[in-house]
Parts: sequence; structure tokens; C-alpha cells
Amino acid sequence: GIPGPGNPGSGGSGPAGFPAVRPRRLRRSPALRRLVSNVRLHPADLVLPMFVKEGVDQPVPLTSMPGVVQHTRSSLLKAAVEAVEAGVGGLILFGVPAAKDARGSAADDPAGIVQLALADLVAEVGGDIVLMTDLCLDECTDHGHCGLLTDAGEVDNDATLARYASIAVAQARAGAEVVAPSGMMDGQVGAIRAALDAEGFTDLPILAYSAKYASAFYGPFREAAECAPQFGDRTGYQQDPARSVAEALREVALDLAEGADAVMVKPALAYLDVLRAVADTVDVPVAAYQVSGEYAMVEAAAAAGWIDRDRAIAETLTAISRAGADIILTYWAVEVARGLAAPR
Ligand code: PBG
Repeated sequence: GIPGPGNPGSGGSGPAGFPAVRPRRLRRSPALRRLVSNVRLHPADLVLPMFVKEGVDQPVPLTSMPGVVQHTRSSLLKAAVEAVEAGVGGLILFGVPAAKDARGSAADDPAGIVQLALADLVAEVGGDIVLMTDLCLDECTDHGHCGLLTDAGEVDNDATLARYASIAVAQARAGAEVVAPSGMMDGQVGAIRAALDAEGFTDLPILAYSAKYASAFYGPFREAAECAPQFGDRTGYQQDPARSVAEALREVALDLAEGADAVMVKPALAYLDVLRAVADTVDVPVAAYQVSGEYAMVEAAAAAGWIDRDRAIAETLTAISRAGADIILTYWAVEVARGLAAPR
């Protein structure tokens, strides 16, 4: 055969000018595609982020995240049971306290909303799903920043570490099975590890939000967790998207050296290159967080009739998995898990 134009692979076997190598052969039927697909989502690898709000007796729907609510303590339990029944692997809890102050006192108060809701969850679904907590201060501070402020209004890294250590212990005592520090303070994993160990929680794993970028895609979360910074933004502590992947690898290496058991890249979709690099580098589980803005973008475009919602959800999650995520945090966890559990 004579290789056709742009067809160097035609070799000797195909008719003149026609391709001998045809990748389309394996795409011809749904059954063939199913047979050869090798990027698969599994419900057990999904983690559902959940919001619980103190002092409400009805779930509060979120305008910017259609389908997501701030739960009451009782609606949280009902939704957690649904997640268990769908086979979802974990849930990560965010609390919205009724009262906030400069030091985020609710975060480590044994009677704080996260601690109370955790105890409820342990009783209701303990052992059936991994109970994780976001470990940060922004949901609890009146200024909305992830740490304590200096008199000059800057986030005070080292003073904040003591707060994180105390929050970790409070969450552990309330029944957290994994703590996930998300504040991007230097040394936070080491400080939390030391505090947990000192209190006897040597076996409690830390999932570190290691490579966390200052992202516009957290927009809707600020409504969900009522934690928009009252001044400034988070660019002084979260990573700059305009830095190469090496910086993310450095953050990951530091967290592992400090004792992180698993690491996270966040957001997911705009950082698939970072995710791939991290997955290729480490030997611990790698999580990716499909954040609020990623969710809102798809829901809004689908509501306008501009994209196919279900396909967009599946495609984005598949991309995140293909890029190397072992664990995916997604607000669609239950819906996706149900679809995956159904026989195909
Ligand atoms: C900080 C935290 C944030 C998110 C998770 N943990 C907000 C932020 O860093 O500004 C965002 C999650 C999302 O957008 O879905 N506690």
C-alpha cells in the first residue's frame, strides 16, 4: 500500500490510500466503548461536602448553588444517610455558626456547630462513611479570613497555627475521622499533627489541602459558608495561579514532610496539570476538590439550556479522575454515585 496523505500508519496492509490503523474501530458500539474504557468513577471515591448552619429549623437553599443547602442538624443526618445509601465514600463537613468573632471561637468550642453535628453523624452513620472536617477559621471569624489578624490587619501565620491545633483536637474529640486543613498557613500540617499526637489522636489522618489556589471558583462557597472576607482577599496565603506547577509540588512536599497522610489539589478543573504532576510525584492518596464555582458553572449553563447537564457532570469528573485523582470532592457526589450504582 501507498501511505495516504497524512497517514503514515497505513503500512502495507490497507488498501492504497486508506488507513490500516483505525482508532475508530474500538468506538463503534456502546458495548465496545464500555469494554475498553479505563477511566472509571466509583462511588466509594467520592466525597460530599456538606454545610450545617446553627440555629435554623429549615434547610436554607443556596441561590448560587442550586440543589445545595445549608442543613439543619436534622436535615444533615437525613442527607448523610442518603449519601451512605448511594455508596458515597466520605463526607466533609463545613459549619456556619450563629455567632462569629475575631478569633473564630466557634471553631474549637466543644458546643460549636461542627462539633455538635459531628457527634450526631457519628451516632447516625458512623462506620458507614468517612466523616471528614474542613479545618479552617474563615467560617467562624467575623472578618472572614482564614486566620487571626495582626493589628495591621494581616493574617498572622504563627498565631493562627495555635488556633488550628486547638480546632483539630476539638474536631477529633467530636468524632472526626479525617481532618482537612484548608487555610494555607505555613506549617499548619506539622502544628496539627503535633497537637493531635499530644492528645492521643496519633491514628487520625490528615488530608492536607496542599495545593490550594486563590480562585474565583470559590465564589458560591462564600454564600454557602457565609465567609466572604470583609476586606481584602486570600491572595496573601493561597497560591497564585500564575506560578508554575513546581510551587504546588513544593507545597505538597512540605505537607508530606510535616506528616500529611493524603494531599489535595483545589480547585480541580482549572488545575488538572497540577493534579497530574502531584499524582505522578507522590505515593499517598491524592484528592481533588471540584469546587462551588465549578458546580455553579455547569448548573447555570444547563439551566439556560446551553449544555447537557448530565454529560457535563460526567465529563468533568472523568477528567479529574483521568488527571490522577484517587478521591474527588464534589457537590454532585450523591447523584453521581446513584447513577454509577445503577446497572448499565
Ligand atoms: C476554606 C475553604 C474554602 C473552600 C473550602 N474550604 C473557601 C476559600 O478558601 O476561600 C471552597 C470550597 C468551594 O468553593 O467549593 N475554609
